[in-house]
Amino acid sequence: MRIDVITIFPGYLAPLREALPGKAISAGLVDLAVHDLRTWTHDVHQSVDDAPYGGGPGMVMRCEPIYAAVEDVTARFAPARRILLTPQGTPLTQAVARRLADECPSMLLFCGRYEGVDERVRALFDEELSIGDYVLTGGELGALVVIDAVARLVPGVLGSAESPAAESFSDADLLEYPQYTRPAEFRGLAVPPVLTSGNHGEIARWRGEQARLRTGARRPDLAPRPPGEASASPRRRRD
Ligand SMILES: C[S@@+](CC[C@H](N)C(=O)[O-])C[C@H]1O[C@@H](n2cnc3c(N)ncnc32)[C@H](O)[C@@H]1O
Repeated sequence: MRIDVITIFPGYLAPLREALPGKAISAGLVDLAVHDLRTWTHDVHQSVDDAPYGGGPGMVMRCEPIYAAVEDVTARFAPARRILLTPQGTPLTQAVARRLADECPSMLLFCGRYEGVDERVRALFDEELSIGDYVLTGGELGALVVIDAVARLVPGVLGSAESPAAESFSDADLLEYPQYTRPAEFRGLAVPPVLTSGNHGEIARWRGEQARLRTGARRPDLAPRPPGEASASPRRRRD
């Protein structure tokens, strides 16, 4: 997968060179290019923002450099999906990450700053994504989150092809079952005996039950309800 990021702080994306995304890049499974928006400015100060029409606090990112940057990157690399990071976008979920990993051989992420972008910039993008209902100072952390969530689903990036399937949010909107590793007992806390029984059918049954119990206790908004039962609160949207 090719990923282009446009930002005024290219250094912010450096953590992607570490750990699993870093390995995916080194292995050639993910091709990451980070572009400095100021490359597409023409004034001596390389300005990308201006005061908002109508007044109000802060500055707004201008159309001209953003159009120039997105059009230039699009002409050169033809990203399959152009995505604007914004708190007003569709919430990023595992289903959204899965869709992007499955359907997009390439994507372009644009990181806003200041009070956000000139409204006319929105026409450049295929979709807008939010990483949560809070306001960050810039879209770079959002881009890191989107790239991490999507890149690990690119075939070959995770060690075991099975591991994403049983994870939280991947299997029928359930949280993952509890996990244990050695030692079998630690400070009086024992691993559930079923996990050391060697009975794989029983282990699978226990894990399924634990996933349902855990989801019901921690995230009742996700838990499946019996058919016909009314919902007290709206269901979370999958994407
Ligand atoms: C301070 S925010 C602008 C917020 C904007 N004034 C509003 O109220 O919707 C600056 C930039 O940070 C990024 N950003 C902030 N919160 C975000 C979130 N929850 N998800 C994705 N991007 C976010 C966006 O790129 C945004 O343009």
